[in-house]
Amino acid sequence: MPSGKRKKVKNRGGEPRTVRVRSTGGNYPAVIGSGSLSRLPLLLKGKRRPSRLHLVSDRNVLRHHGEAIRKQLRRTGIPFSETVLAPGEGSKTMEQMQRILRSAVRSGCDRNSCMIAFGGGVVGDITGYAAASLLRGVEFIQVPASLLAMVDASVGGKTGVNIPEGKNLAGAFHQPRAVIMDLDLLGTLPARQARAGWAEIIKTAAIRDLRLLSLIEREREALLAGSPPLLAKVVERCVRIKAEVVEEDERESGLRMILNFGHTLAHGIEAAQGYGRLLHGEAVAVGMVFAARLGERLGVTREATADRLEALLAAFGLPVHLSKLSCSRILTAMGRDKKRGPRGLRWVFLSRPGEALVRDDVKPAAWQAELKKFIQGK
Ligand SMILES: NC(=O)c1ccc[n+]([C@@H]2O[C@H](COP(=O)([O-])OP(=O)(O)OC[C@H]3O[C@@H](n4cnc5c(N)ncnc54)[C@H](O)[C@@H]3O)[C@@H](O)[C@H]2O)c1
Ligand SMILES: [Zn+2]
Repeated sequence: MPSGKRKKVKNRGGEPRTVRVRSTGGNYPAVIGSGSLSRLPLLLKGKRRPSRLHLVSDRNVLRHHGEAIRKQLRRTGIPFSETVLAPGEGSKTMEQMQRILRSAVRSGCDRNSCMIAFGGGVVGDITGYAAASLLRGVEFIQVPASLLAMVDASVGGKTGVNIPEGKNLAGAFHQPRAVIMDLDLLGTLPARQARAGWAEIIKTAAIRDLRLLSLIEREREALLAGSPPLLAKVVERCVRIKAEVVEEDERESGLRMILNFGHTLAHGIEAAQGYGRLLHGEAVAVGMVFAARLGERLGVTREATADRLEALLAAFGLPVHLSKLSCSRILTAMGRDKKRGPRGLRWVFLSRPGEALVRDDVKPAAWQAELKKFIQGK
């Protein structure tokens, strides 16, 4: 074909690749790569063609990518309606869920409708829950727009909202019909949000994949500069790991708990500060360094693991220490943590980089002493 006639394809990271995620409710594809948003119409074709679509997104994401998603929705030929949320965790409420449900019903959604969650983890979680509830369950497609939502929130079927008593306390397991991860969307993601996504990527590598961890260390500069082929590789690897873990333990009774590495302290930090100051990913970064230090202290984690993790997280611009102020509030908040095993608070440790284990028999005095030391800066 003469080069002048060649179809112009925006594809800086190679052809999109598909990971198949298995779940008890059926298997679904996660399509990863630059330009994969254009696969949306194809995923809605055939015997399971929905009667209507209901798009849920937030104002930030629509400001940047509203036209791109609506263009794909129009290409399906299926009528669609929209609910637009205010950006941020404050929208993950029952009130906003009711808004979504009411607007979907008023627009004429029936059992064969399909919701489209287009945004970060907030939009993904609330839309999934709305889809699980609408007429006792309709399909939904995840189109994550933040790095964190791509590598973590959009795969695995956990959906839900916050209630005044705590984060994610109402929800359902509801698997999406498909996930589309278009890396081009990340171009408009604020740098701080991107760093928060890197915390969950580093977590995924740290608990399960030493090779991925080494690749991130080696290619740090290129990854931070946003190299599409490399980023596609890293996102795909994270999705495969999350899929593997979730396939083995869909309802979090065992293996899935390792995904909570760094989260025991992170939840304490988030609760103590009123979900405002550190982003979730940032709190997880601090929590991972602490869990590695505590693990080393208890003899569970191989020495030098904490230093290695801390260096990598710091290189990605993530916080790795805590200020002195918050200690007693964090201790109180952790005392209320509901993620307990039969013997006590559940901790995820690395036995070494790339391997994790769960323990619920750490004596409170041991982790509390370590935490005080950690907060005071070693
Ligand atoms: N279901 C799960 O398994 C799971 C796992 C991890 C996290 N979560 C949930 O995910 C949520 C956090 O997700 P998040 O970090 O994506 O937060 P978020 O949805 O609040 O998005 C972060 C911010 O980035 C903006 N944004 C997102 N994509 C953008 C883009 N492409 N361009 C410009 N701005 C963009 C959003 O408008 C928002 O202001 C939490 O509620 C958490 O509980 C769920
Ligand atoms: Zn997390």
